[in-house]
Amino acid sequence: MTAQNEPRLLRIGVPSKGRLAELSAQLLNEAGLPFKRSERSLFVRCRDLPIEVIFLRADDIPVLIAEGAIDLGITGADLVAECGLPVVHRLNLGIGSCRLALCVSVDSTVNDPRQLAGKRIATSFPRVTRNWLAERGVEAHIVEISGSVEIMIQLNVADAIVDLVETGSTLTANQLRVLDEIGRYETVLMQHPQVSDTLLADRIVRRLEGIVIARTYSLLEYNILRSHLAAAEAVTPGFNSPTVSALEDRDWCAVRAMVRRSDAHGIMERLEALGACAIIETSISNCRL
Ligand code: PRP
Repeated sequence: MTAQNEPRLLRIGVPSKGRLAELSAQLLNEAGLPFKRSERSLFVRCRDLPIEVIFLRADDIPVLIAEGAIDLGITGADLVAECGLPVVHRLNLGIGSCRLALCVSVDSTVNDPRQLAGKRIATSFPRVTRNWLAERGVEAHIVEISGSVEIMIQLNVADAIVDLVETGSTLTANQLRVLDEIGRYETVLMQHPQVSDTLLADRIVRRLEGIVIARTYSLLEYNILRSHLAAAEAVTPGFNSPTVSALEDRDWCAVRAMVRRSDAHGIMERLEALGACAIIETSISNCRL
């Protein structure tokens, strides 16, 4: 087969800059799709699979998926919503969570979005903002800005802004307050509706899913009296169901179950109160469930 006739490699678009670029590279690496980007290169071939990673602006990724230029892409769900094109959501990646909020100055007398009818709203999310306002019957003048939205009220360009809020420190620093929440978003893996190699695309999704679940859950093991097993199982129902094994002492059994990492301490305390012992939490680095 000549190079010309060879099927195109599956293309994954990842953000080229910033925190999302680092997090995406880390995630793909953990999913067994390692790549090494040489300085300024915009394409790189994965070592072990017929996959090409392409470095792009995060806000171009939804458009390029819709156009079929790339098959899969990692980007913010906020950017996907703003682009409004028919791309397929495959996976939430458990990173980059933020909310899009309608904000006014802390000393503003506005307490209801309807009071913004006829006023100016600055945002980098004109489409999402217009739709949200239209659903509430509010007509406002949208000022489209691509960055530094948080200073637009001070600059007297707008009466309100719609911007992303992560920690809230930008709002505090600019004396703004949230009037209403428009949406919650996180980093996602999106796909073109018809990829050429669906099996390979599904393999990538499964690999990434294994890593995302492993980051969210840990494995808890403990011993418990059989008479208290039902109560303990209610505390640790597991991802599907807990694994229960017999112990030499027939009155006791060993239980293994996945728990949300963020809940592990509380669950261990509840198990201890039920008489469980040898309670061990282990991190999971990868899984298939
Ligand atoms: C985003 C967003 C806010 C800020 C919110 O800006 O537009 O300004 O982060 O984060 P915080 O709640 O943790 O303060 P980004 O840094 O991405 O740059 P931008 O202003 O150019 O969009």
